Amino acid sequence: MFPVRVELGPRSYAIAAGGLADFGPFARSALPAATTALVVTDEHAEPHADAVLASLKAAGLPASMVIVQSGEDTKSLHWLAELWDELAELPADRRTAVVAVGGGVIGDLAGFAAATYNRGLPLLMVPTTLLAMVDSSVGGKTGVNLPQGKNLVGAFHQPAGVWVAVETLATLPDREYRSGLAEVVKYGAALDATLFAWLEANAPAVLARDSQAVAHVVSQCCQLKAAVVAADEFETTGRRAVLNYGHTFAHAFETVAGYGTLSHGEAVSIGMTCACYLAEHVARLPRSGDTLADRQFVLLEAFGLPVAPDLGWDIDALLAAMRRDKKTAAGKLRFVLPDRIGHAELVDDVPEVSVRRALTTLLPK
Ligand code: GLY
Repeated sequence: MFPVRVELGPRSYAIAAGGLADFGPFARSALPAATTALVVTDEHAEPHADAVLASLKAAGLPASMVIVQSGEDTKSLHWLAELWDELAELPADRRTAVVAVGGGVIGDLAGFAAATYNRGLPLLMVPTTLLAMVDSSVGGKTGVNLPQGKNLVGAFHQPAGVWVAVETLATLPDREYRSGLAEVVKYGAALDATLFAWLEANAPAVLARDSQAVAHVVSQCCQLKAAVVAADEFETTGRRAVLNYGHTFAHAFETVAGYGTLSHGEAVSIGMTCACYLAEHVARLPRSGDTLADRQFVLLEAFGLPVAPDLGWDIDALLAAMRRDKKTAAGKLRFVLPDRIGHAELVDDVPEVSVRRALTTLLPK
């Protein structure tokens, strides 16, 4: 349970949980030297950011707020420059905390502004979506998109603390909540068979957003992510890459379908299904019996997530997008493939013919 500690030597930090109104004292203890704060949020998360701002002020930390437009388009050089302007106007110095309140877009954008302004400002994360709580707010990946591709400019910049307020999930739109559940299933399928079985047994409570079930899920995922990040902070050994299970396919689906057609979680859900088929084709997973492929399929469907595209995508276009993926090494196709429930590995140089077969199994005839 919380708090979960991300062990990174002098850059270690806590992922703690509580109400938004209690964030101020957490910020104070995570960053005792901070003298001011800039809260960065978007239109959707603004009510949560108001509560965060009030709690910072109540804890004696002078704070102001900037509200950016909602949506993936905001993860751009334009909005990054807007944040740099805001920081310059304050003016910010190295005792100014950047506080990101929102989903993955806000965490990545505000995190990168914090990583780059004055060669680095302290950062606190207050994720308000399930996806951001279990994944993007932890581990220090920050950045923006370029017209040429997602996340092409960025930096590793660890937060000084992450505050999980599960109350924010109560108002999250259903599709967005389910989208976050795809990343939750990812943790179970790729890293933890016990979590996977728990999700199977408790799917109705998770879907109903039962507060105890949600707190259990988020803390388990944060623990798994904290261990992976501590073992491979800069994604150099292949260990952290396991968190990209389903994502090589997913990024290709998002590119070929056009951003916004599928949510990221929906693309990851279809991507994990594809990764299972691919693992079967390259003989890493058995093709029959009580397999991961079958159980994952059932669990994703129970969470109302798609397991196959409803459009016939162009396989050549998908392969071209996968070869452009920044996880690709020397143009070779690399995938995170499972060999049992709760265990997956980065596999280099997967034959194109096997990827084509996996996609053909899944695409509508
Ligand atoms: N979202 C994958 C990672 O943080 O490495």
